[in-house]
Amino acid sequence: MKNIMVTGGAGFIGSAFVRRMINKHPDWTVVVFDKMTYAGNLDNLLPVAQAPNYRFVQGDIADREAVRGTFEQYGIDTVVNFAAETHVDRSILSPDSFIFSNTVGVYVLLDSAHKHGVERFVHVSTDEVYGDIEGDHFSVEDDPFKPNSPYSASKAGGDLMVRSYFVTYGLNAVVTRGSNTYGPYQYPEKLMPFFITEALDDRPLPVYGDGMQVRDWLHVDDHAGGVEAALLHGKPGEAYNIAGENLQHNIDVIRLMLKHLQKPESLMKFVPDREGHDRRYAMNCDKLKALGWTREHNDFDAAVASTVKWYLSNDNWWRKIKTGEYLEYYKRQYAARLAAAQSTS
Ligand code: TYD
Repeated sequence: MKNIMVTGGAGFIGSAFVRRMINKHPDWTVVVFDKMTYAGNLDNLLPVAQAPNYRFVQGDIADREAVRGTFEQYGIDTVVNFAAETHVDRSILSPDSFIFSNTVGVYVLLDSAHKHGVERFVHVSTDEVYGDIEGDHFSVEDDPFKPNSPYSASKAGGDLMVRSYFVTYGLNAVVTRGSNTYGPYQYPEKLMPFFITEALDDRPLPVYGDGMQVRDWLHVDDHAGGVEAALLHGKPGEAYNIAGENLQHNIDVIRLMLKHLQKPESLMKFVPDREGHDRRYAMNCDKLKALGWTREHNDFDAAVASTVKWYLSNDNWWRKIKTGEYLEYYKRQYAARLAAAQSTS
């Protein structure tokens, strides 16, 4: 493994993986390939931008010519695909780009990788492909897919496409499925960075439904380590769950953030629920642990405290984002919801 292309490498989890690889593997050339949509941000890569083994190409995984050109220019032998539209609420408002990037884009990338003779392909996916997990079950990798949002359905389509390229063409591919990820450099539309940055400005926090939904929370550096373990040691054709083994009700996560922010719980506003909202995600990750993967961030209270601290000390990073298109999205997603909350309280 010498020349690794990290698609979506300017995003949240992708950039954490890139920062890790650049430092841990100075003998690899790491080529970030990113479309630079609203969520791609070169500031996420500033800590490694001067590294001799770092390269950047702006491009779309669904653009066959751009992908082929990059494969050839850098002699790419390994692909790790983080490129995706990722926000469930945006997929409910407008699904097109989700199907285009997460299913069609993955197909184009796989097909190009196969034709170019890529030696290893890692596809980064999500626990949301398993859908709403009832009772006390923990999803294992062979469980059926029951996606409920356009986002999760588009990701399930990508996972299945990877499988077909392994079975049909023998592409050396593995899939990872991570749980809800948090930490520095996360675009402030997802629960944690959105609520932290809103609370810092004493703005209302729109809690969907009763706030009793359950998610498994995983630190971004542990997620990046899980993708690395799957890349280095995963068996071709297999999928690996990456879990924090840290199930929390949303309301408890929100209270924990408010505690560390020293902000009042009165900022919480209960608003009409997300359509098709999955109640619970939970995954078993024994298969990845058997490859030698371990987590570093198992004290959730401490990890949330340090995440809060990062957003506090990096307000130049997120204030730049919370302008323009972001404000349009905020209005479309929250204006009516918050108005409904106010009229019932
Ligand atoms: P999110 O960060 O969007 O991740 P996902 O939908 O992929 O799990 O949301 C995490 C949980 O927080 C989810 O149950 C929805 C809830 N949530 C709110 O209650 N309010 C919000 O404004 C957002 C963005 C999320």
